[in-house]
Amino acid sequence: RRTPLTHPAHFHLPLLEVEHFRTIYNIFVAVLCIFVLRAVVVDFIDNECIVLDFEVLIFAFGRLHMALLAWLVMFLYTLLVPYKVLQIWARSLETLQLPTAVTVIAAAVLLIGHATVLGFYPVYTVISQPFGPASCFVIILEQLRFLMKIHSFLREIAPPILRARSNDGKMGLPPFSTYLYFLFCPTLIYRENYPRTPHVRWRYVIENFAKFLGCLFYGSLLFKCLSIPIFSNMNKQPLTLRRLVLSVFNATLPALYLVLLMFFCFFHCWLNAFAEMLRFADRGFYKDWWNATSFPTFFRTWNVVVHDWLYYYIYQDLLWVFKAKAQSVALLSTFIISGVVHEYAFTLCFGFFYPFTLPFSIVVVLEGMFYSTFTHGNKRPNSNILFWTYLLLGLALQFCLQSLEWYSQIHCPVQKSTFWMKVTTHFWSCYSSAITTPS
Ligand SMILES: CC(C)(COP(=O)(O)OP(=O)(O)OC[C@H]1O[C@@H](n2cnc3c(N)ncnc32)[C@H](O)[C@@H]1OP(=O)(O)O)[C@@H](O)C(=O)NCCC(=O)NCCS
Repeated sequence: RRTPLTHPAHFHLPLLEVEHFRTIYNIFVAVLCIFVLRAVVVDFIDNECIVLDFEVLIFAFGRLHMALLAWLVMFLYTLLVPYKVLQIWARSLETLQLPTAVTVIAAAVLLIGHATVLGFYPVYTVISQPFGPASCFVIILEQLRFLMKIHSFLREIAPPILRARSNDGKMGLPPFSTYLYFLFCPTLIYRENYPRTPHVRWRYVIENFAKFLGCLFYGSLLFKCLSIPIFSNMNKQPLTLRRLVLSVFNATLPALYLVLLMFFCFFHCWLNAFAEMLRFADRGFYKDWWNATSFPTFFRTWNVVVHDWLYYYIYQDLLWVFKAKAQSVALLSTFIISGVVHEYAFTLCFGFFYPFTLPFSIVVVLEGMFYSTFTHGNKRPNSNILFWTYLLLGLALQFCLQSLEWYSQIHCPVQKSTFWMKVTTHFWSCYSSAITTPS
């Protein structure tokens, strides 16, 4: 049923070559021009000079050089250690007679290495230094990417080596260059060969990187014009239920705009630029999630790269463990694991614990199971509209509550930072009682 990784239909999604999408893209660019114009005119009125300010971007990418240093450490470990350990393990299996002992030692070395360099080190780095939130995301998302890549590599390479040992076959590892290629190419599923394009279109690469940078600037303007003025002034009036509800609904458009921008910036521009540079032909990083009529379809199509990894290495493995009897348990567990990892990333990058993705995923799965049990899989009426309504409400809620929490940390700094203080939200107590003054 599934489209294999190498199916031609998976290769190319010419999003911007479809005229209607081109128009939507043009509308986005036109809105960017309006925002730039607004910033320029307001600057001119206020200061009688034109300064395009990059304040938000500079703050978000604070200490990027240190984040890149942390990336380098994680990359060198990922590049050298797992491959070398696997190589020594495969050679020892050929020559030594104690396969279990050798396997246990190799697993222990990898476990200690992973826990230290890909576990403790990035977390400590993010907590101990005053990074901007985007720099934190660089470290944490790269940590997760490396872990997922290593897992896929070990999962795809170790079983054939063990099979070869029992059949007296050749137990060689793929060339190091194949592993190096895998670390950079935009997929989390290891294969010895991938479909390749005949040549690199450098113009396309440059265009995509330029669009990527443009999106970052655009995102910073959106924050500056649509989000910061609202949330940074929350302390001027006491927060009532009415004000909170209005803030959530008012956050719908900025949240939608930011998510579409992030989607285009990363899934389209960044991944396509890397794929093109590496002549990686499979461009199915996302499918038409905007046409989804249900959340299961959305989760299959929004982030195909992560979905494929979750499907093969978590969902299918859990089905194997539970012998395909408890499909619902496997499904729910996959969503819970994914939700926990999302919460982990948000908590470390924003500096507070505000669980949203995890409960949202659980509710979506339970609702899906409940619905299919009681309607026997019948399609919902107008389900694409319903899907968008849920999605917009979910995005607005998350965007608004996290922004409130972020600013409440600034307006009402916690005096005694205990673990309990860190994992509880305090925007309501901060804003509802008294009018506070910014510190
Ligand atoms: C769990 C997961 C891997 C399943 O993948 P999938 O492609 O939907 O797998 P299948 O198509 O084999 O579906 C398995 C069954 O689960 C059901 N299902 C899938 N998602 C569901 C959901 N959210 N709620 C209820 N049922 C769901 C399917 O309808 C199907 O049922 P069926 O066998 O009766 O037809 C996928 O939903 C997933 O990736 N979830 C995590 C999403 C996520 O966090 N992504 C990261 C985004 S950044």
